[in-house]
Amino acid sequence: MAEHREFFYRRLHSLLGVVPIGIFLVQHLVVNHFAVYGEESFNKAAGFLHNLPFVLLLETFIIYLPILFHAILGVYIVFVAKNNVKRFGFFRNWMFYLQRITGIITLVFIAWHVFETRVQVALGNVDVDYSLMEGILTNPVMFWFYLIGVVSAVFHFANGLWGFFVSWGFAQSPRSQKIVTYATLIVFLFVSYIGVRTLIKFAYGV
Ligand code: HEM
Repeated sequence: MAEHREFFYRRLHSLLGVVPIGIFLVQHLVVNHFAVYGEESFNKAAGFLHNLPFVLLLETFIIYLPILFHAILGVYIVFVAKNNVKRFGFFRNWMFYLQRITGIITLVFIAWHVFETRVQVALGNVDVDYSLMEGILTNPVMFWFYLIGVVSAVFHFANGLWGFFVSWGFAQSPRSQKIVTYATLIVFLFVSYIGVRTLIKFAYGV
């Protein structure tokens, strides 16, 4: 019975990593990328999302609760669960550990990022707009913190997609697993580019 429950929680953890959290991550980075086209474009795109009806309800069920569940079980998996990595080859072993390390980095980054933006808005201290992010990212320490956080989150998502395809049985043969490795590498490079390009615009204005 306990095993069944653990299996169910692990499945849910895996699914939530892709839907909705992974989809949200990509959507968030694409919307932020409007900054590259100028301050007004960014404010319009961010304002559209911010002014959606029932925004707090949507955020709670589509973002906060799924991330909270995924993060709590993720920390448990990293520090407590027994993992069987012997069945993987050298490359996959590395990817397995990087998945865990980037999970922890992403957790620290998201906690700080939400505190600095969403919590401050709720307290009435700031407005989330172009100048807020510009003010944060022109500080070189914060620029590197955000760069590492964004690249870690994207790596964690892209490499997690590989695990998702394999653990849900969509990629079983060695050949299909190889194809998924290349496909998720492209996802990693493409989405990282979108995220990092935006950070450079905020930090250096180019
Ligand atoms: C942007 C936020 C995040 C996204 C998009 C995300 C996405 C994913 C995806 C798609 C998977 C693969 C699921 C699978 O193996 O079937 C995964 C696995 C994992 N995530 Fe996350 N995740 C995020 C945040 C976190 C955080 C904050 C932690 C906390 C440490 C975490 C810990 C883990 C762990 C340990 C695994 C491996 C699970 C396993 O091998 O069974 N993740 N994540």
